[in-house]
Amino acid sequence: MDISQLNILACPKCKIPTQLIDGEYLFCTCCKEKFVVTNNIPVFITLSNSATPKKSEMDDLIQYHLDELKIAQDSNDPRNIMPIFKKNHMTILDIGCGVGQTLYASEIYNDPQKQLLGLDIYLDLLIYGENQYPNIKFINASSENLPLQSEKVDLIISRVSLPYTNIPQTIKEISRVLKADGEIWITLHSFNVELKHLLNSCKHFVWKDMIFRTYVLLNGLYFHFFGKLFRFPFKKKIESFQSPKAMTRLLEKNGFTDITIKQGKHFLITAKKINGITPA
Ligand SMILES: C[S@@+](CC[C@H](N)C(=O)[O-])C[C@H]1O[C@@H](n2cnc3c(N)ncnc32)[C@H](O)[C@@H]1O
Ligand SMILES: [Zn+2]
Repeated sequence: MDISQLNILACPKCKIPTQLIDGEYLFCTCCKEKFVVTNNIPVFITLSNSATPKKSEMDDLIQYHLDELKIAQDSNDPRNIMPIFKKNHMTILDIGCGVGQTLYASEIYNDPQKQLLGLDIYLDLLIYGENQYPNIKFINASSENLPLQSEKVDLIISRVSLPYTNIPQTIKEISRVLKADGEIWITLHSFNVELKHLLNSCKHFVWKDMIFRTYVLLNGLYFHFFGKLFRFPFKKKIESFQSPKAMTRLLEKNGFTDITIKQGKHFLITAKKINGITPA
């Protein structure tokens, strides 16, 4: 898809529509910021050097996402979980899409009626996806500052990506860009999953990981009791587990209804945005 066809983009800061200049970059008339378009992908985020994976790490990441694609394509794999797409879901956004594996593996991938958007913070993953899966329009941005105009999306899916974001800010943005009656389908990390990670690093005495996993658990508890998250002090990373109580409270605050929570093999939440409520 040509970038000029993507007319729902907005400045991630000002939230007003961006203008495509000379087919080369996007421009915000409010803050005057220019956003480059590279490999047909609009870039709305600049990661610091320390937050950018090295070449070998990126190769491993791409391989990880290709393995996840195999899981998404194999309905007999116990790790497989796929969103339910409805007829009225026309514009669909995958937050933390990796290379675009979930949308590519879905039954709607070849439906020309649907607008499929994949968003991730790592540009190299998106470039890989752009080369392989042309029916998805990739956007390089962060979930905490979505570069989309308000009330444009019918369905937002996110498979185990929100645990790595500032969830209150992400949910606020999700609610903003969803149309009235728009829906979410998100999978998360439970307390038990994170506890297992911590116990595993204790067993192998990987002390750096023990510290980080302890932070993740404490952050999840902070989220559960106070509805807030804090970043890992040294690396500025953010991660947490999510409790049903914290998520329900947050979704209700951001105008969601019909909240369903399933906790089994997967921790899945679905919900619908109430008509007419869009957080400021
Ligand atoms: C565990 S992977 C899940 C990938 C894919 N959804 C799947 O189910 O296979 C988490 C993804 O979230 C992305 N991610 C992390 N923080 C993000 C943020 N703030 N905004 C958007 N994506 C983010 C990562 O780059 C990574 O691709
Ligand atoms: Zn702006």
